[in-house]
Amino acid sequence: MLTVESLDVAYGRAQVLFGVDLQAPAGSLVCVMGRNGVGKTTLLKAITGVLPVRSGRVTFAGRDITRLRTHERVRLGLGYVPQGHETFPQLTVAENLQVAVEAARTDKAAVDEALDLFPALRGLLRRRAGFLSGGQQQQLAIARALVTRPKMLLLDEPTEGIQPSIIIEIEEAIERLHTEAGLAILLVEQYLELALRLADRFVILDAGEVVRAGDKEDLRDESVRQLLSV
Ligand SMILES: Nc1ncnc2c1ncn2[C@@H]1O[C@H](COP(=O)(O)OP(=O)(O)O)[C@@H](O)[C@H]1O
Ligand SMILES: [Mg+2]
Repeated sequence: MLTVESLDVAYGRAQVLFGVDLQAPAGSLVCVMGRNGVGKTTLLKAITGVLPVRSGRVTFAGRDITRLRTHERVRLGLGYVPQGHETFPQLTVAENLQVAVEAARTDKAAVDEALDLFPALRGLLRRRAGFLSGGQQQQLAIARALVTRPKMLLLDEPTEGIQPSIIIEIEEAIERLHTEAGLAILLVEQYLELALRLADRFVILDAGEVVRAGDKEDLRDESVRQLLSV
């Protein structure tokens, strides 16, 4: 479904990703791991077109999307939940979702479907997003991405800074999107136990390069823990 080949990405003259390869087949859940600053967010931004690539190729659903604009990638079925969720704090929950409906030119039914995953948001529709807890904002951000009816969802550290009880809800939602809705998911996650529960496959980045990739079983290896420990 998603293939990344030999991806180089730079901020100006500072190159951050070096020849990154990654594959996420349809219906798979691939976890991108690695310490802070290794390039995980940069990788997701390059896949979604928020950042241009210096060289390499991104293929999605059989198409070369390397040079497409972000909104074109969204229309092809690539949903993106950025790190720190980036909801509109001054807008209500309902308005945040409506923005996505208009941007993606979908219908109201898509909002209902997205809210089915996070029923608690239904009671908060008229609250400003800025007044939600971190966990609720994260749920809203995921719901907003789902409004575009993606085939694949990119999630950048959805459990970062969120209290444990809500982490469980977010984990369950990701699990359902994967197993029930059959979405392919690329999940950036630093928490190894969560990755072990959710992922089929993983890649570990270090200093902008893929240093390990494999099946979930390989994640239990001691060398993996060393690559993730600070
Ligand atoms: N806008 C930017 N301009 C310049 N350098 C950046 C920018 N954003 C991130 N970087 C650098 O790129 C590297 C990778 O960052 P990032 O992709 O955010 O890592 P991660 O998500 O793994 O923590 C870091 O060294 C970071 O300082
Ligand atoms: Mg990051």
